Amino acid sequence: MCGIVGYIGPKSIDSVLLVGLIKLEYRGYDSAGLAVISDGELTIAKEKGRIADLENRLRNLELRGHVGIGHTRWATHGEPSRRNAHPHTNSDGTLAVVHNGIIENYLELKQILQKKGYVFESETDTEVIPHLIDDFLRQGLTLERAFLATLKELKGKYALAMISELQKERIYFARNGAPLIVAMGEHAGQKEYLLASDIPALVPLAKLAYYLHDGEWGYLDNGVFLFNLENQHVDFSWEAVTIRAEDIDKGSYPHFMIKEIYEQPEIMRRILRRRLRQNQILFDELRLSKDFLSSLGRIIIQASGTSLHAGLVAKLYLEQRAHIETTADYSSEFRYRNPVVGGDTLVVGISQSGETADTLAGIHEAKAKFLRVLSFVNNLNSTIARESEGVIDLMAGPEIGVASTKAYTAELLNLYLFALYLSELRWKIQEEEKKSLALELQNIPSYMEEILQQEKQLRAISEYLADKNSVLFLGRTFNYPTALEGALKLKEISYIHAEGYAAGEFKHGPIALVTDKVPVIVIAPQGEMRSKMISNLQEAKARKGTIIAIISKGDDEIAALSDFAIEIPSIREELSPLLAVLPLQLIAYHTALLRGCDVDKPRNLAKSVTVE
Ligand code: M6R
Repeated sequence: MCGIVGYIGPKSIDSVLLVGLIKLEYRGYDSAGLAVISDGELTIAKEKGRIADLENRLRNLELRGHVGIGHTRWATHGEPSRRNAHPHTNSDGTLAVVHNGIIENYLELKQILQKKGYVFESETDTEVIPHLIDDFLRQGLTLERAFLATLKELKGKYALAMISELQKERIYFARNGAPLIVAMGEHAGQKEYLLASDIPALVPLAKLAYYLHDGEWGYLDNGVFLFNLENQHVDFSWEAVTIRAEDIDKGSYPHFMIKEIYEQPEIMRRILRRRLRQNQILFDELRLSKDFLSSLGRIIIQASGTSLHAGLVAKLYLEQRAHIETTADYSSEFRYRNPVVGGDTLVVGISQSGETADTLAGIHEAKAKFLRVLSFVNNLNSTIARESEGVIDLMAGPEIGVASTKAYTAELLNLYLFALYLSELRWKIQEEEKKSLALELQNIPSYMEEILQQEKQLRAISEYLADKNSVLFLGRTFNYPTALEGALKLKEISYIHAEGYAAGEFKHGPIALVTDKVPVIVIAPQGEMRSKMISNLQEAKARKGTIIAIISKGDDEIAALSDFAIEIPSIREELSPLLAVLPLQLIAYHTALLRGCDVDKPRNLAKSVTVE
């Protein structure tokens, strides 16, 4: 949610910052801007819209310099506009600030500053920061001291960067509750220093990186200088940047979303290779003792969006496989609902980004109740990973498309294996059953490949859906969350209204929505729920609903009852969510394309939701 970049080094400043911003555009894309020390003067360029719009604006500006900061915005305070775009400056335009997060006491600070005569140009919370620094400068503090004094006034979350004409060779930065990384690279024998909200913006320039902790601030000039809020020097060690350029590139695919959909079989192979060895289930990075895990009384899963849908499936895995009472809750609800818990409760957070504000707050809430916390994350350097006692690596690789796809199936598979791991620790699984499951799991990658080969047929379904106003999704037990996920994918990228329901609940109200203009997508693979799903399908069909069914291969009975049928390979019901979601991802993708939507950057959304 908002992306920040900073660069100090020998390369052409505007192109380095623009390339960094393009790679961070998934974090927010309603406006963008740069501040550069060009010919010794602070120069600002900002524009409403995408980075491409900013790039056009830069064509008329000749920026020369080697110190600069940039920002891509997801609006919180103030509509998307050039006026509200970052960077924001002090009144005489000698210092500029970019910010990610929310300054909670900005109104209070704004009033104090206005009384002192400061005039605000934007509706943002961020603008108090440059004026506050300015105010401290007027009181006689040095820039460094004024920056620190300002940080001490701010309440809320921030990652920020600042440059000024007063110290032309420096970039100040600070982190509190929003991610920020400093990094170092080398160009033509000269060191270069970088700053970014996320690692993709630093590739391929940075060779070494340091992930800042909350309360750390400092500056980049001919090195990285780091302090805490007591102004004590902080020692840190660099980590090698291992991410490769191709991991964050679309390659030959037109969009990140479709690239990420196609990566799923390989990710499943990667997870199985690491976690399953000779029928042993391995979680070597876990950090929670086997004694604790085997005596767990209860699990509370808390997550947001797609990750919560994976959590809803995992609730069934943990209850049915490991026999542990489990609840799954939206983080945004869990954090405020003050649940009744005991010392044998484990709170599980699930988050692709590892930065979702609500999920992080849920972890803080659990820790405040002295509960143990385990998180499943796709980034081991993320805030959620750091703040959790136990951590499990999703191993999906960087996910850039705003619509989560590969992270979902990686979450499902890791959670399933974790449930099996617990069932083993708690003596709830026979060796024979484990062997047969291990064999079946090995089929998942090739089964996924089979489904992906049906992309053309799925596109035909999208053609049918593209002009509809509303689509309903039905599933039961393991595939009720699949229905929720299918609906979320469709609505977030194609803007068609879509809802997922537990199929048994359909007749208690939502069935009133069915007409010949409201298609119903029924997830009905083989298994215990199949016959129940046939009844629900019939109910929708009797009301003239067009039926699109996801069925197991060879299920001619359901195929004959449906207007469109998509086959997935036969697999035990508990594993079917891993397969059934793929056609739904592809249907959402093609429907969005047919409606002319920007699938990788849907309106109003951002990839990593770091505000409440
Ligand atoms: O990074 P997280 O897994 O914590 O993100 C949670 C949600 O914000 C995310 O899944 C969101 O719902 C996606 N846009 C879904 O495609």
